[in-house]
Amino acid sequence: MTQNFQVSAIDRIDEDLRALVAIAHVEGYAFMDRLIEHWESGSNRFDRPGEQYFIVRKHGQLVAAGGLNRDPYCDKEGIGRVRHVYVAPDARRGGAGTALMVEILSAARGHFTLLRLRTTTDRGAAFYEALGFARSDATDASHVMQL
Ligand SMILES: CC(C)(COP(=O)(O)OP(=O)(O)OC[C@H]1O[C@@H](n2cnc3c(N)ncnc32)[C@H](O)[C@@H]1OP(=O)(O)O)[C@@H](O)C(=O)NCCC(=O)NCCS
Repeated sequence: MTQNFQVSAIDRIDEDLRALVAIAHVEGYAFMDRLIEHWESGSNRFDRPGEQYFIVRKHGQLVAAGGLNRDPYCDKEGIGRVRHVYVAPDARRGGAGTALMVEILSAARGHFTLLRLRTTTDRGAAFYEALGFARSDATDASHVMQL
């Protein structure tokens, strides 16, 4: 399924990604607004060692985005955090999120030994558990994966 998708790392936020963020905003996913805010302020451009932000296209259309940060809630080295993952409503359950995460997991190996994330929805939890993440009871992470 993942062969239908083109996943690429970005170094700027283009109009297509802004349009995806606008859809996320309408759905109430404020974390995508924070992606833009932090990118524009320079506080987080996913550009430190091991970090990357990816977009996913299907037949040229931007359908998903998500990235990999050093975990800002952890002082220890080697801990990454999956952040700002979002799939457009009409592309869901079609494998776009998985295609994105395959790339994020591949990028994370070699840089991080542990990945953490926080999802607040049942569908997010089901998605990450299908990928092999385990539930965590940490206050700042809902799921973790040892790499
Ligand atoms: C969660 C999200 C990233 C999943 O992306 P997706 O492209 O739809 O996921 P995939 O199609 O790759 O799904 C892979 C597997 O994850 C699980 N999964 C995904 N969405 C699910 C859902 N709504 N309910 C149950 N399981 C789900 C399934 O096991 C699925 O495999 P299957 O479709 O063969 O059953 C996407 O729904 C999304 O962006 N939602 C809005 C934002 C959000 O909820 N973010 C998480 C909270 S912060």
